[in-house]
Amino acid sequence: MKPSDTQSDDGVSANSAAADRVRIFDTTLRDGEQAPGFSMDRRAKLRLAHALEALGVDIIEAGFPQASPDDFNAVAEIARTLKTPTVCGLSRCVVGDIDTTGRALESARHSRIHLFLSTSPLHREHKLGMSQAQVIDTAAASIERARKLCHEVEFSAEDATRTEPEYLVEVFNAAVAAGATTLNVPDTVGYTTPSEMAELFGYLRRHVKGAERVIFSTHCHDDLGMAVANSLAAVSAGVRQVECTINGIGERAGNASLEEIVMALKVRAPHFGVDTRIDTRKLYPTSRLLTQLTGQSVARNKAVVGENAFAHESGIHQHGMLKHRGTYEIMRPQDVGIAETKLVLGKHSGRHALRSRLQALGHEVEESAMDGIFARFKALADKKREIHDEDLEAIALGHDPDA
Ligand code: KIV
Ligand code: ZN
Repeated sequence: MKPSDTQSDDGVSANSAAADRVRIFDTTLRDGEQAPGFSMDRRAKLRLAHALEALGVDIIEAGFPQASPDDFNAVAEIARTLKTPTVCGLSRCVVGDIDTTGRALESARHSRIHLFLSTSPLHREHKLGMSQAQVIDTAAASIERARKLCHEVEFSAEDATRTEPEYLVEVFNAAVAAGATTLNVPDTVGYTTPSEMAELFGYLRRHVKGAERVIFSTHCHDDLGMAVANSLAAVSAGVRQVECTINGIGERAGNASLEEIVMALKVRAPHFGVDTRIDTRKLYPTSRLLTQLTGQSVARNKAVVGENAFAHESGIHQHGMLKHRGTYEIMRPQDVGIAETKLVLGKHSGRHALRSRLQALGHEVEESAMDGIFARFKALADKKREIHDEDLEAIALGHDPDA
């Protein structure tokens, strides 16, 4: 690291032009990878890191270098090869971790050490066995040490949303004084609601000394299914870094899903008034790459990238879509990198969709023949979940598709 190149572009001022941009901090390679069934080796991590760079992610949390030699090497290689994003490594507030993380990030163009320490009463008492003052002192000393080893330091108050707000302000005041430039508020156990999230960030932005010089960040888990809603509430309350993962993978029920947050900010841009640097046309390919690397597929009905996100089977919806795609779609599949909307033919489909598909397959059907074709189609659809083009061709030509 060359100290003179420090401080990434937008370091920080809430008044700067960057204030309307939300930085996307992707933690697929750290919090995502940490979940059972999702671990990735160095080669897989490197491939995904390049895809995340192409996607336009601002900060890539590449791993937890102290966790294993392979993770150290993965972070070091990602740090050495990526050009645009800030490369980040996670570290406990422990001297050995900090130094290891600093070494792993040595050759990054922009490096960040992400320090975390629990602040909630439950964690202070049962996990750390530390007093309030000890937590503050440990955080401050760790930030001071980490600052010398990287371009910028992020501090996370683990279990922040179950921490006394007044005490959280004290912790963050000490973190800013010690040199942290990003203050992260993890909803570690996915307990908070959107209105509580907005209220907490309003409070922190009013009370933390130097709040206008730092970036506030949100990091939400999905235990109650509110991770994306909580992240968006945080953005509405002035947060300008969102921590998230591809396909929402992560500990337990997962982290906030990157593709859902990014598309919500894009589709509802007038509502949120912020943008991101994400090339949304790469969302689906990146999601697919992750499923290939981990062997874990996403649910069919997953927002934005699931197989059904742009598929319609019911006759009423298909009829609407054939007249105007806006009737049942709020975004274009091409905007997320999916080739086209699918009108899936099944027992819920109607004549319009059937005729349209037959036309696309080169079969112009006389109206008088349509009743019979439609009846044969419905009879087959009652037996099969989905009707394929070969089935339709057989029906149109008067063959028995079951034969
Ligand atoms: O959920 C959490 O609290 C974390 C921290 C390490 C940021 O992942
Ligand atoms: Zn987490």
